[in-house]
Amino acid sequence: MSRTPRPLEPEPAQLEAETRAVADFVLEHVCTLDRQPSFDLDGAETLRASFREPVPEEGRPIEALLARLGPAIAKSYNTAGPGYLAYIPGGGVYASALADLVAAATNRYVGVTGAAPALAQIEETAVRWLCTLMGLPAGSRGILTSGGSLSSFSAIVTARHERLGEDFTNGTMYFSDQTHYCVTKSARLAGFPRASLRALPPDARYRLVPRALEEAIREDRARGRRPFLVVANVGTTNTGAIDPLPEILQVAREHGLWVHADAAYGGFFRLAPGGGALLRGIEECDSITLDPHKGLFLPYGLGALLVRDGSALARAHGESASYVQDVAEEGSLGSADLSPELSRDFRGLRLWLPLMLHGLSAFREQLAEKLALARWFYEELRADPSFEVLDEPQLSIVAFRLRAPEAKAESLGPELQRRVNARRRVFLSSTRIGGRYALRVCVLSFRTHEDRVRDAAQALKDEARALLA
Ligand SMILES: Cc1ncc(COP(=O)(O)O)c(C=O)c1O
Repeated sequence: MSRTPRPLEPEPAQLEAETRAVADFVLEHVCTLDRQPSFDLDGAETLRASFREPVPEEGRPIEALLARLGPAIAKSYNTAGPGYLAYIPGGGVYASALADLVAAATNRYVGVTGAAPALAQIEETAVRWLCTLMGLPAGSRGILTSGGSLSSFSAIVTARHERLGEDFTNGTMYFSDQTHYCVTKSARLAGFPRASLRALPPDARYRLVPRALEEAIREDRARGRRPFLVVANVGTTNTGAIDPLPEILQVAREHGLWVHADAAYGGFFRLAPGGGALLRGIEECDSITLDPHKGLFLPYGLGALLVRDGSALARAHGESASYVQDVAEEGSLGSADLSPELSRDFRGLRLWLPLMLHGLSAFREQLAEKLALARWFYEELRADPSFEVLDEPQLSIVAFRLRAPEAKAESLGPELQRRVNARRRVFLSSTRIGGRYALRVCVLSFRTHEDRVRDAAQALKDEARALLA
C-alpha cells in the first residue's frame, strides 16, 4: 500500500522547519571554513558511487538528505576556503546565497521587463553599475551570464554580426596564445573554422605584441581573409598578464577590428587603488567579459558581458514571436532581447544584494589586499634560490617553478605540488607556460589573507629545499 506523498506545498510549519535545517547546515559549514582542509578527496569515489541511484518513489526527510550532502561537500576541493589558491578562486560571498534563496523562492520572471518591472530594473541597474565601473559610456548595455565562457560566446557572436554579417567563415580573429580556451571554444561554437583563429606568441611578460598583431592582420588581408576581432587579455589565467590595450586599440581602430577584453579574472581590479591606470584602455573596448564569480568573490554562476554600443547586443540576439506579443515593449529591451537566454534565474539579485549590503568599499579593500599579498608572495619566492619566478605579478597571480636543470625541474615540479597540497592548508594548481611545467598561486578569494599566503610560501620553501637537497 502506498503512503500519501509529501505535498509539493507543505504546511508553513514544515517549511519553516526545513528552512531552519538548511540554514543550520549551511551556517555550520560556512562558519568553520577556516578550520577545514584545503581539499579532501579521500574516499570520494566510493561516496560518488553511493549517489548513483534510481529516482525514489517516496520522499525522504530533509535531515536525512542533508546528512548525505554533508560528506559529499566535504570530499572535494575546498573552493570556498581561504587556502584555495588554484585556478581562479572567488570564494562565494554569502549574501549571494541569500539572494538566490529569495530569487528562487519568489520565482519571478525577469527576462522581459513588463513581467516584473522593478526586478528587471534591479538587474539592469546592476549591469549599469558594471558598465560604469569599467568606464563605459551611457549607450553601453550588458547581460548577465552563467560565466566567462558564455560571455565570450555572446561577445564573439556580437562582433561577428557587427563586422562580418551573414557570410563570415573567412573572418579572422586574433589573440595571444595565453588566452583562455573558452575563447577558441566560443569561436568554434559561433561557427568559425580553426583557420579563423590566430593565436599569436606573446612577449616575455606573456602579453600580446601589437606589432605582431598588425603584421598578422596585414598578412591575412593580403591573403583575402577578413580580420574582424582581437581578444585582449585583462589578466591571463596563467600569469595574470594584461595585454597593452591602448596600443591594441590603435591597431584595431586602424584596421576596423572589434576589440573584446577578456577581463573575466582581472577586470574588477579596476576598483583597487591605481586600478584605473593598471587597466588603462578597458573603457575604450567594444566589449568586456567580466566575472563577478571571480573578482567580486560571488558564488559560481555569475558572469557578465558588457558592450559599448548596447544596440549591437540587440542586433546580434534579437528575435521575436507572436506568443510574446503581450510583453513586447516599444522602445524598451528586456534581457531576453539582448542574450541567448529566455527563461532563466533572477541572477541579477546575486550581484545587487551583496553590493547593496556591503557597499563597493568592502570589495575595493579586498582587491587591494589581494594585489598586495601576491606582491608579498612574489618577493618571498624571488628571494629564495630554490625558485625561478616567471614574472613579476601584473595582478594577483604568481607563476613559478623549481630552479633546477630542465629535466629535474620538470620531474620534481609535480612532486612539489603534491607535497604542498598534501599538507592541506593550501591548494595549488599547475600549468605549462612556454612548454614548461609551472606552479601558480592565484590570490583572489575574499577569505584568503596574509596567514594563508605565508603558509603557502613556507610550505613551498620547505618542500623545495627537501626535494632539491
Ligand atoms: C581569463 C579567463 N577568461 C575566461 C574564463 C572562463 O570563465 P568561466 O569559467 O566563468 O566560464 C576564465 C576562467 O577561469 C578565465 O580565467
